[in-house]
Amino acid sequence: MAITPPSERIWWKEPIAKIELIWIAVAFLWGLVMFFMMIYWHGAGEQNLSSEAYRITPEAFSEKTNAMVEAYTVREESGFPVVRPPPGSDVYMLGRLWQWWPMLELEKDQSYRLHLSSLDWQHGFSLQPTNINLQIHPGYDMVVTLTPDQAGEFSVVCNEFCGIGHHLMIGKIFVVE
Ligand code: CUA
Repeated sequence: MAITPPSERIWWKEPIAKIELIWIAVAFLWGLVMFFMMIYWHGAGEQNLSSEAYRITPEAFSEKTNAMVEAYTVREESGFPVVRPPPGSDVYMLGRLWQWWPMLELEKDQSYRLHLSSLDWQHGFSLQPTNINLQIHPGYDMVVTLTPDQAGEFSVVCNEFCGIGHHLMIGKIFVVE
């Protein structure tokens, strides 16, 4: 206990006990194992998909998103445009206080390049109920190649605390046959 001074004045020069050495070795080896498992899980596990990141200004990202919305909006839902871009194309979703905008409608078994960025500060892109979870920052265009393999309605939940409307920050991706 550290509330009384150590009995030996040169307390820090004691030899390390064997049990402590074993513990250090076990912790170190386990750390190494987990380090290599991260690489293995990236390829073989059901982990986050690989993403690319590019620098982009919020203005430029907003412009690209608006152009897509103008060209491919098919309907509205709760005040949000629902956009159905052509399969294989670049699709955009932007995070801002406090929404993921716009809603997307994608075709099953078609690939899209999904671009994500924030216009203000850090948001989280968590696609429910799948295991896709990304941190989205302003100034960076995060690109993931997405091939939906089941039809349905998916929610995008912000899981980085971003202020008073954080819990309302929910987006939608519809996947149709
Ligand atoms: Cu955006 Cu929390």
